Amino acid sequence: MSAQRGEFGSRFGFIMAAAGSAVGLGNIWGFPTQAASNGGAAFVVVYLMLAFLLAYPVLMAELTLGRHAHGNMITALAKVSRNGTQRGLGTLVGIVGIFTASLILSFYAIVSGWMIGFGLAYPLNALGATDASTWLSEFSFNRNLLLMLVFMALTMTVVAGGVEKGIERWSKRLMPALIVTLVALALYVLTLDGAAEGLAVYLVPDLSKIWSTDLIFNAMGAAFFSLSLGVGTMLIYGSYISDEEHLPTLGAQVALVDVGIAVLAGFLILPAMYVAADRGVMIFNEAGGLLSEDTLIFVVLPALFDSMNETGTVLALAFFGLMSIAALTSSISMLEVPVSFLVERFQWGRLQAALVATVIISVMSTAIVANFDALFGLVITISTRYSQPLLGLALCLYAGWVWRRDLLLKELAKNEPLIEPTLFMKWWPWYVRFVCPTIVVVILVRTIA
Ligand code: PHE
Repeated sequence: MSAQRGEFGSRFGFIMAAAGSAVGLGNIWGFPTQAASNGGAAFVVVYLMLAFLLAYPVLMAELTLGRHAHGNMITALAKVSRNGTQRGLGTLVGIVGIFTASLILSFYAIVSGWMIGFGLAYPLNALGATDASTWLSEFSFNRNLLLMLVFMALTMTVVAGGVEKGIERWSKRLMPALIVTLVALALYVLTLDGAAEGLAVYLVPDLSKIWSTDLIFNAMGAAFFSLSLGVGTMLIYGSYISDEEHLPTLGAQVALVDVGIAVLAGFLILPAMYVAADRGVMIFNEAGGLLSEDTLIFVVLPALFDSMNETGTVLALAFFGLMSIAALTSSISMLEVPVSFLVERFQWGRLQAALVATVIISVMSTAIVANFDALFGLVITISTRYSQPLLGLALCLYAGWVWRRDLLLKELAKNEPLIEPTLFMKWWPWYVRFVCPTIVVVILVRTIA
């Protein structure tokens, strides 16, 4: 069976694909401003700690379950189950995972479409096509629908290509391009007037905030969402890793790239905001906090680009290109969740599975576009605030309590050259059994309360 299954062709390919999934819109538009409003470097330190103390162990649960089963989330949870009830619950968790991944993609594709629209609007404007440029950058039903469909078609094309020839190949091309663009943009923006002030806001720690519970909870949520946890994305990518590979090292490398890019994005976004402020753009909201998320990306930064003439066009193209790439390498990992299920469960060809999943998700997305005010925020809240942590909790419980400990250790020790158990093997099973579920329950209670 595994001969027919896709597999990542190289370690580098896997790291680029998994880091591509993790690095997304969240890293570039969420993390930097959250850091700025939560004590600057103090938040960065707490975020780094949580990424490694919470998100990394949960990531390892997904990768290990996936590689053990060489199958999707439903197959993986059934494989470690010891009785019918556990298998039944596992199927339910797997179905909710597939549905949540699809739901996340249905709103993500709309925002990603806007990135493409803004990326095209600047060069079109420079070429004199002002009507098209305005249409692409103004909110409308038609624009939102068309760009969402374009983005879904791009995502489908990559996923239909398969694990090695689609996902891995494109991640290996796009992720280095993303890193180079991000570094180049940051270096350029840092030379502009006002940048130093932004850098100070980002890097000078406000230690009075480091013990604030709000800061810790925000950082925890950001780390968890950022590593694409809970919905079976990392699980299915884990299932395409060869048995030769050492999982704890691979997982650590993915977490490092994700966190590294989030931190790097701070060197671009905060200085850029203060450069904009220096040019008269409003960067604070009424409460005195920094503008963030969609206002930051679609109002503050465009105002900065507009103030820079031709240089602004080049910067805008690079920036929205960067965001589109970050979005695409994440969206392919979301689409892979339902596609792998259809391929494995019904023995469909990849193209057919990718087409059907894309049509269904595009219909869901169209419903959001048509009822934007009512559905957009709601879908984000349900899928990322509730469903993702709950699923993460379920995965920890399956890895920590349901899976027989000796079998779990055997999976981890595959290709472990040492006879002595490593530090990771001693600690992690205990950690994922007690500590991770406790932390996730605390987040959930805080979210609901
Ligand atoms: N990690 C992605 C981001 O930061 C989002 C994501 C969530 C991707 C769930 C896949 C699955 O944007």
